[in-house]
Amino acid sequence: MRMLSVAFGIGVLLALAGSTAAKGCNASQELVSKLVQRMEHPAKGSETPNPSILLALNLVRDTGNYTKQLLQKIKEEAVKRAQEDMTSGKVALYVLSLLSSCQDPRHVRAFGKTIDLVQILQQKTDEEVAKLITDGIPITTLYSVSLDALALCLARAGGYRVASVVLAKQVLRLGDQLLVDTRAMAALAMTCTYRQTDLQDVRELLWRALHNVTNGFLDEQEKNDGMIGNIYSMGLALQALESTQEFYAPRKWNSAQACDVVFKHDYNQSMAIAQVLPALVGKTYLDAADLNCTTDITVNYTITNMLQGRYFEHNISVNVPAGSVLLKVLETAQKEKPDIFR
Ligand SMILES: *[C@@H]1O[C@H](CO)[C@@H](O)[C@H](O)[C@H]1NC(C)=O
Ligand SMILES: *[C@@H]1O[C@H](CO)[C@@H](O)[C@H](O)[C@H]1NC(C)=O
Ligand SMILES: *[C@@H]1O[C@H](CO)[C@@H](O)[C@H](O)[C@H]1NC(C)=O
Ligand SMILES: *[C@@H]1O[C@H](CO)[C@@H](O)[C@H](O)[C@H]1NC(C)=O
Ligand SMILES: *[C@@H]1O[C@H](CO)[C@@H](O)[C@H](O)[C@H]1NC(C)=O
Ligand SMILES: *[C@@H]1O[C@H](CO)[C@@H](O)[C@H](O)[C@H]1NC(C)=O
Ligand SMILES: *[C@@H]1O[C@H](CO)[C@@H](O)[C@H](O)[C@H]1NC(C)=O
Repeated sequence: MRMLSVAFGIGVLLALAGSTAAKGCNASQELVSKLVQRMEHPAKGSETPNPSILLALNLVRDTGNYTKQLLQKIKEEAVKRAQEDMTSGKVALYVLSLLSSCQDPRHVRAFGKTIDLVQILQQKTDEEVAKLITDGIPITTLYSVSLDALALCLARAGGYRVASVVLAKQVLRLGDQLLVDTRAMAALAMTCTYRQTDLQDVRELLWRALHNVTNGFLDEQEKNDGMIGNIYSMGLALQALESTQEFYAPRKWNSAQACDVVFKHDYNQSMAIAQVLPALVGKTYLDAADLNCTTDITVNYTITNMLQGRYFEHNISVNVPAGSVLLKVLETAQKEKPDIFR
């Protein structure tokens, strides 16, 4: 627990009531809860854990029991099967789901054994990229390789840059012959890489590929009344467009129109829901490694007035989530002692 003291005069209070801008589709809490339930329901009966579901639960900040159980199952499954029985893309999803759970994918422990899932991913990605470079096709799919590059990039591991360069070339060669899902996942991976590289020629190539994918999506949305690909690719398409504004600027995205398409559909497939949920709350897979991983902090909060009127001084000690804005402290204090902290 970190302790800090906050003391200030009354005048400061007025400046704090700023608003936080809504991002993404700004779905209602009811819709999010409904979709979370539908996504979890079939998964609860399943033997094999689904890392996409854990990732989605973490991105919508679900803290229920199922999220904890699923994390445990994911670790066990990774230790049992990652090396032998998983494709590169599946390992990548495991890495993303662990990052989003504030776990270190380099040390995954279960059954008294520890594995380095990032190293396994690097090795599998290298094999995919080698095959792509020699034969023009990967061992699995370009969608998988996109997941690989994204997970390696977010885990701050090596190998993502060369994978992204190969992806960019494929995107520019094949254009909309590639499925929307593939292009969207590639866009997320390339965006991560673009932000982490200083090499001018790499950045230029990625920029061209990202410009192509995003403008292609915007064209398609305009042509098809909001739909990009089909209803099941909307989740990833929304995630991609939400995180790539710089590549289609100054063009604007009519996100409300695309969100409307999603709102009107009654999703009932776990996987589709897992991909659409993050976008509904303004998150994308790019946020997987940036979630708040700290717990509560204690704040000693004092209000004093030594200036005019009746002098006063009041102290209170409140617990709030780490990273909270000051307003949260004020609101918590008000809840605990409404007669004093108004
Ligand atoms: C987002 O949704 C909340 C509650 O549903 C609403 O109060 C708020 O105005 C919405 N914001 C935007 C930008 O649509
Ligand atoms: C969640 O887990 C806690 C502790 O294991 C238990 O007390 C609680 O009843 C569980 N809640 C649900 C909804 O299953
Ligand atoms: C993207 O690239 C493909 C292949 O080069 C091309 O056919 C397509 O027109 C491009 N799309 C956009 C929006 O630039
Ligand atoms: C999902 O919804 C479709 C109609 O939108 C329905 O035909 C199908 O049976 C539903 N599937 C499940 C698993 O509920
Ligand atoms: C905060 O308050 C508690 C109890 O009122 C006290 O024990 C603690 O030393 C204070 N911490 C700081 C940093 O002032
Ligand atoms: C409030 O806290 C401050 C700093 O810890 C301390 O100097 C002061 O005596 C406290 N006042 C009251 C009324 O407890
Ligand atoms: C962390 O949580 C605080 C509130 O608890 C929130 O204001 C902040 O945006 C969060 N940061 C991230 C990266 O989600």
